[in-house]
Amino acid sequence: MKTDFLVIGSGAAGLSFALKAAERGRVTVVTKGEMNECNTNYAQGGICSVTYAPDTFEKHIRDTLVCGAGKCDPGAVERVVRQAPDSIRDLIAWGTRFDRTPDGRFELNREGGHTEHRILHHEDLTGAEIERALVESVRRHPNITVLEHRFAIDLLTQHHLGEFVTRHTRGLACFGAYVLNLETNEMETMLARFTVVATGGCGNIYSSTTNPVVATGDGIAMCHRAKAITENMEFIQFHPTSLYNPGEKPNFLITEAMRGFGAILRLQNGEEFMDRYHPMKSLAPRDVVARAIYREMTKRGEDYVYLDVTHKDPDQVRRHFPNICEKCRSIGIDITRQWIPVTPAAHYCCGGVKVDADGQTSVRRLYALGETSCTGLHGANRLASNSLIEAVVYADRAARHASERLDRTEFQEGIPDWDFEGTRHTEEMLMIIQSKREMQQIMSNYVGIVRSNLSLKRAMRRLEILWQETEELYARTKPNRDLCELRNMIAVAYLVIKQGREIKESVGCHYNMDFPNREAE
Ligand code: FAD
Ligand code: SIN
Repeated sequence: MKTDFLVIGSGAAGLSFALKAAERGRVTVVTKGEMNECNTNYAQGGICSVTYAPDTFEKHIRDTLVCGAGKCDPGAVERVVRQAPDSIRDLIAWGTRFDRTPDGRFELNREGGHTEHRILHHEDLTGAEIERALVESVRRHPNITVLEHRFAIDLLTQHHLGEFVTRHTRGLACFGAYVLNLETNEMETMLARFTVVATGGCGNIYSSTTNPVVATGDGIAMCHRAKAITENMEFIQFHPTSLYNPGEKPNFLITEAMRGFGAILRLQNGEEFMDRYHPMKSLAPRDVVARAIYREMTKRGEDYVYLDVTHKDPDQVRRHFPNICEKCRSIGIDITRQWIPVTPAAHYCCGGVKVDADGQTSVRRLYALGETSCTGLHGANRLASNSLIEAVVYADRAARHASERLDRTEFQEGIPDWDFEGTRHTEEMLMIIQSKREMQQIMSNYVGIVRSNLSLKRAMRRLEILWQETEELYARTKPNRDLCELRNMIAVAYLVIKQGREIKESVGCHYNMDFPNREAE
């Protein structure tokens, strides 16, 4: 199969790229589940853009830089903040509805780390609204073909022409991908002039995460295997307030916008505690709040703290957070009268595949977008609601960049079809499930909110065993989704630990007890 643009992933990044690139050529979107199975669909709080005074680009830039703890790329921050209003206009043109006040102005939320109200939203279901609009626009577009239940396994490079390649090989390029058709179990060789990896995050490398099951870091692992450069992988962001509801997967999110609305964090005994950690209290940047909750929970041997919104007008609470009210009611909590039990959960990968100002990776003809990528915007810690906007801004930039080069780029000849020789269907599902659980426990216990040199070393040793066993199994098995996801998660976990061991400081989302950081404490 041949296509001008092969897009892997159908979240905000992949679909907004598809809509832009389809103005210039044929686009094929492959996605491993239904189209709307993605992190985008779960986003609650909203999407950042400077909209009205007294907010300014400078304030949004400053908040992003402060939150990123000195590790942001200032160029990327400028780029996203200044292009954000155009991208919001694109989303609206594609049919997204953002909430407005009775006088027709956009209603803006505020979240942790923001000094102004600048978050456009659709109730507490912003991601689902954006995804709905994108899916409908993509389905209508004559130049876009969507293939659901297609699992991208590996990116095609000179390696598949029999050449020896390394991360330093000059002229390394991507020619498409091997994609497993999950309905027929056939492997399809998809050739493309340009390939876009927009496979989202990797929350499932941890036992508790707000991410849906599709977030297994496939794109980061594929790019790593294709010898693209990854960076900042140690900065895994934990969301402070996921609903404490043991056994539920993924963890249901209680949006930070609720703290922006005035909700207060309390210990189980009712005491407020955030004033001991940060002048912005419950609205401090996310890493500070997650660590504070973690500290208080471990000190007391408790599994959760409370979020209290009972002092706010119940009608307003119901109007702003209908989805959260409904969810909590379903487990017996009326949030207008009762406190919500919350606990931190793995939420977002601030690092990823390193890209330039146009979303290009270090491999030619290969772009990475959205949560898979590391543009430099987030630094060591992402400012709330900065990721959807990053995805849409960079999708636009990448689509322009690739479109301008379309006529000069040929399909690669000579790529062989997948070789199934010597492999058979797996009968070892139990082992795959067990290895996944072990990997998640290793990451949660040793590479969580607080780490140490010893915990990282232990994690690496244990992961190495799992890696070896999984590679042996992979070598003799016909590829299937569970095994490939496990293999990808192990690769991503490896990158998180490896890059976490290389950094000799505590900063942002990476807190290592052996390098205490007074400011972060
Ligand atoms: P995704 O939306 O995750 O899409 C990835 C796609 O790739 C999926 O369709 C998936 O099926 C597909 N895929 C993955 N692997 C493969 C493969 N091997 N082959 C084929 N397809 C594959 N950010 C904000 O800015 N504001 C918020 O309010 C907000 N709230 C959030 C709330 C929750 C609960 C969560 C989990 C995240 C939230 N985020 C928020 C973060 C934000 O939603 C994500 O970072 C963003 O949506 C990522 O978009 P994406 O297009 O990069 O990836
Ligand atoms: C939230 O609504 O709290 C999540 C926002 C985000 O992850 O950006």
